[in-house]
Amino acid sequence: MVHVVRYESPESWAEHVAARFASFLADEPAARVALPTGATPEPVYDGIVQAVAAGVASFGRAHVFLLDEFGGVPRDAKGRCDVMLHRELLDHVDLPAANYHRFDPEAEDIAAMCAAYDATLQQPLDLVMLGIGRNGHVGMNEPGTSPDSPTRRVELAPSTTQASVRYFGEGAALPTWGITLGLAQILAARTIWILATGEGKADIIRDVLLEPVSATRPASLLRGHPNCWFFLDAAAASKLPVGVLSRG
Ligand code: PGA
Repeated sequence: MVHVVRYESPESWAEHVAARFASFLADEPAARVALPTGATPEPVYDGIVQAVAAGVASFGRAHVFLLDEFGGVPRDAKGRCDVMLHRELLDHVDLPAANYHRFDPEAEDIAAMCAAYDATLQQPLDLVMLGIGRNGHVGMNEPGTSPDSPTRRVELAPSTTQASVRYFGEGAALPTWGITLGLAQILAARTIWILATGEGKADIIRDVLLEPVSATRPASLLRGHPNCWFFLDAAAASKLPVGVLSRG
């Protein structure tokens, strides 16, 4: 079942998604959650940091799984997903270091590293939070990904490499490959949240929700999930008919 929730402004969107996350964690303090990086979740992470500082929620018993990671770029590059998640969230909350799970693109045996990651996910994730690419990717599951694909090394779509300049900065070497949580592990999660803001995401949000389900737009494969939520600001929802929306 897909729920589509629209918020009037980017500010109210961020505030409400952060509050929903804080209450999710308050209800399920030992939740296992996969978290994205990128521009979209940044203001949500600000709100979650505030909620944790205010004692509304705690990561003390939670487990956080990094959704994806870029390969072939320095470990400390500012656009590495691990670096971004630390900067925006993990450095400011009470998650025990041992409860953080991330990929190691420098591993000698990437396939074994990915298999070990999936082995820890035999117990499904309680929540996967996702951004969405303009080509419909989720994590680094690019167009053409089949729904049963595991966690693995992937080649990035050229547009994904180009878009990563906003994380790595002008002139920096950009990644052409990465490691992503598989669609199989995402679809096995109890709850999926897809976050999108801004008019640049309006076309893909419309296509993902209204066009036929297709691996050419991987996010559309999530429509078959029993508990999948799209949280959109007004700009990202602007090409949807009102009938599919709930007001946030
Ligand atoms: P963004 O990236 O949040 O920086 O727009 C989303 C994505 O490409 O998955």
